[in-house]
Amino acid sequence: MADLSVDIAGLKLKNPVITASGTYGSGKEYGQLIDINRLGAVCVKTVTLKPVAGNRPPRLWETPSGMLNSIGLQNDGVDAFIANDLPYLAALDTPIIASIAGTSVDDCSRLAKMLSALPEIDAIELNISCPNAKAGGVIFGSDEKLAADVVGKTRLATTKPLIVKLTPNTGDIAAVAVACERAGADALSLINTVLGMAVDIHTLRPQLGNVVGGLSGPAVKPIAVRMVWEVARNVGVPIIGMGGIMTAADALEFIIAGATAVAVGTANFVDPQAPIKIIEGINQYLEKKSIATVSELMGALKID
Ligand SMILES: Cc1cc2nc3c(=O)[nH]c(=O)nc-3n(C[C@H](O)[C@H](O)[C@H](O)COP(=O)(O)O)c2cc1C
Repeated sequence: MADLSVDIAGLKLKNPVITASGTYGSGKEYGQLIDINRLGAVCVKTVTLKPVAGNRPPRLWETPSGMLNSIGLQNDGVDAFIANDLPYLAALDTPIIASIAGTSVDDCSRLAKMLSALPEIDAIELNISCPNAKAGGVIFGSDEKLAADVVGKTRLATTKPLIVKLTPNTGDIAAVAVACERAGADALSLINTVLGMAVDIHTLRPQLGNVVGGLSGPAVKPIAVRMVWEVARNVGVPIIGMGGIMTAADALEFIIAGATAVAVGTANFVDPQAPIKIIEGINQYLEKKSIATVSELMGALKID
């Protein structure tokens, strides 16, 4: 067995495979299907201060090699998360990353403070990249100054590793990444979904109730790999790469492009075993190539 362990800003993971926020519920939905303790970490659905009802349906639309979603950060709010979901997560033998989002900077720092006080939470992922939220969300993530402001204030509210999740729906993702790093992000995760739309040609209506939604799955992978590579060249903090990872080979592309760890999202809907198969596949690849540790591959891309 190769050494698959990685370190994300002091957070020790037994392997680099994490679940992507919003595609894994609060973990227990998948607990009967796979051994969650084998995962590098579990990143749970984004929570907000107050419950959010989400967008009007339909909220999902399958596309060639991907899916559009416009969930709109539906969740029961942080108090319900702590009361109902945390006890299950606390019993797991894998780090728990709580994902937070807010409609204001103050919301984000309050959430970070509340969740940081809980020993069951190992790290905070600040989602400044949801394309479906009414306010906040992607607006923070698409502007360097707004991103720096929300990251800086959230930084002050937590001593836990702070991961900032970036959006591809911006002109220059590397500039936003640099701004987040300077403002105190310990790690960056990317990409969230790519803004998209589909039309029903018979009814002349959009396929999603929210008209637009976020595209995920294999269709976005080349965009995501390119963005991870670009961000990795500009920042020193670790990167969690995601976007269309279905197989170990996909995950390895991200690592070679510069990611320290990867997250698996849409693949969970197709095959709940996908993250486990990806962990096993990374190990097989390393053993076959006689590479002792996965970290040797990080950013190992050769360009002449
Ligand atoms: C149905 C669905 C819900 C999602 N909800 C969230 C969320 O609550 N918070 C978040 O940060 N990202 C959310 N995402 C984005 C994923 O975490 C991930 O960044 C994106 O889907 C790209 O990875 P993938 O192609 O492997 O799915 C969601 C994605 C999907 C498909």
